[in-house]
Amino acid sequence: MSVLSGKNIILGVTGGIAAYKSSILVRLLVKAGAAVKVIMTPAALEFVTPLTLATLSKNPVHHLFTEEGDTTGVWNNHVELGLWGDLMIIAPATANTMSKMVTGGIDNLLLAVYCSAKCPVYIAPAMDLDMYKHPSTQHSFEKLSSYGNIIIPAGDGELASGLSGKGRMAEPEEILSFIEEDIEKQLPLKGKRVLITAGPTYEPIDPVRFIGNHSSGKMGAALALEAAQLGALVTLIIGPSHVEAVHSNISRTNVMTAQQMYDQVFNHVDKVDIAIFSAAVADYRPQSVADQKIKKKDSTLTIELVKNPDILASVGALKKRPFLVGFALETENELEHAFAKAEKKNCDLLVLNSTRDKGAGFGKDTNKVTIIDRKKQTTVYETKSKQLVAKDILNEIIEKIK
Ligand code: PMT
Repeated sequence: MSVLSGKNIILGVTGGIAAYKSSILVRLLVKAGAAVKVIMTPAALEFVTPLTLATLSKNPVHHLFTEEGDTTGVWNNHVELGLWGDLMIIAPATANTMSKMVTGGIDNLLLAVYCSAKCPVYIAPAMDLDMYKHPSTQHSFEKLSSYGNIIIPAGDGELASGLSGKGRMAEPEEILSFIEEDIEKQLPLKGKRVLITAGPTYEPIDPVRFIGNHSSGKMGAALALEAAQLGALVTLIIGPSHVEAVHSNISRTNVMTAQQMYDQVFNHVDKVDIAIFSAAVADYRPQSVADQKIKKKDSTLTIELVKNPDILASVGALKKRPFLVGFALETENELEHAFAKAEKKNCDLLVLNSTRDKGAGFGKDTNKVTIIDRKKQTTVYETKSKQLVAKDILNEIIEKIK
């Protein structure tokens, strides 16, 4: 999965012959899973039609502050557009546009959006070789880089003028991989390995019955996806759950019982940097599993239970162990129980959720958590989607491991 998946991208197209390649770039960005909004300078309209780019991006293309013929006063809000973007790409970027980006000469919608955007801006210059070499263009490159923009170097080769040299806009495929690599190398969990337990465990009683719980695996899957998107290689060990967690950085192992989860965790734990235990593991299992379905005979049935291994506590007791994050699902005296659990299981962080909070716990798409650190400092979060909760948890981890 591309790091651009799910990102909002503003593509600025300026007036150069390479503008025809911007349609291929739009296609590649959309294919990578990004939402794309295109803004053109008036000069770009001479080279490629807004209809082409609107069709490919599946979004209206803007080039004016108010749309032509509009008498309603509706205007294209450059601030809103600028803030919508997770990143902005200007491809092709002409010498003219770049020089205005340097001086702040805002005479079109694209430049207004550029000045309003708070996201990273990638610039793919395209021009003739002498324009490229010209001191004013070189000055623009220097200045734009010093403002924090990222220049995607132009290529060498045949130019529209018939001359040959540096100035060809990087090919759309090169622009895409340049940006993907640049984002990937900055991901905060790049190079880290993360183990996550998730879901319930089922402890068989006989061939058709089991002891289980209501965990859906949603919280753990959200953590796995978020960690993968932050660049980590994730091992997800998950009990019986239909929840999907698909990303090229996630390797999933399905287990059923607490003992199987324990075995899988210990297969991997010495190779990971961070371990997050969000699974709801059965504390007990039947001492013996009947070979055949237990028949209804007496008015009561007694099943002898034995303790399961405590996976989190066992990892917490290791001499060399990863950064350890436990969960606690409580029903009363939440903080008191959570403090005790964090200490007993030797957690670096503990994520507390309570069944008493609406929108928290088993099966829901939301959760409400309090994160506790080793010094018993607590951070209380609002009710949010499990994906956003996962973000908060991973941000706290990243802060602690810095
Ligand atoms: O899966 P969802 O439907 O999205 O729900 C998410 C959740 C409610 C399951 C999750 O947010 C959560 O709270 N997980 C922990 C639930 C739990 O059983 O907590 P506990 O207090 O019993 O266990 C404390 C910690 O020890 C947990 O990190 C647990 O994974 C771990 N543990 C417990 C017992 C055991 N034998 N081995 C363990 O590793």
